[in-house]
Amino acid sequence: MSHVLLLNGPNLGTLGTRQPEIYGTTTLARIEAEVAHEISVRGWKLVAEQRNGEGELIDLLQQHGDAVGALVNPGALMIAGWGLRDALADFAPPWIEVHLSNVWARESFRHMSVTAPLAAGVVMGMGALGYRVAAQALTRLVPSADAPD
Ligand code: DQA
Repeated sequence: MSHVLLLNGPNLGTLGTRQPEIYGTTTLARIEAEVAHEISVRGWKLVAEQRNGEGELIDLLQQHGDAVGALVNPGALMIAGWGLRDALADFAPPWIEVHLSNVWARESFRHMSVTAPLAAGVVMGMGALGYRVAAQALTRLVPSADAPD
């Protein structure tokens, strides 16, 4: 069965209680369930992973090169995660970068993403809803195997 990789980076495992004034109160488990629901319209299964370490995130990208697509919230690794960036550059499926908060409205050190230029698209500032929006986008961006040219 075709699968989508939902990859969340450092400090995103504590969503729900982590700085709720910025990131909201929705847990990562809930977000994962919502994304799984969105992509089920295409018959895709979700593989959802969260890691705090950059190396582990890279390992997961290398293991899931056969995914139909991915949603990636790199967390703070967006700022200087060069190893993660290189792994994403070598990750062939289309992927969308997601940020719960509008990083452009925050501290200036968050205004740079080394990963976003490689993404098919970026969703930010919509809280947990952003993951659903990105998942919906993926269901439309990825062509069907039996679609006419
Ligand atoms: C974040 C934004 C990052 O700047 C921050 O380091 C995070 C979360 C977001 O989803 O808004 O960990 O990626």
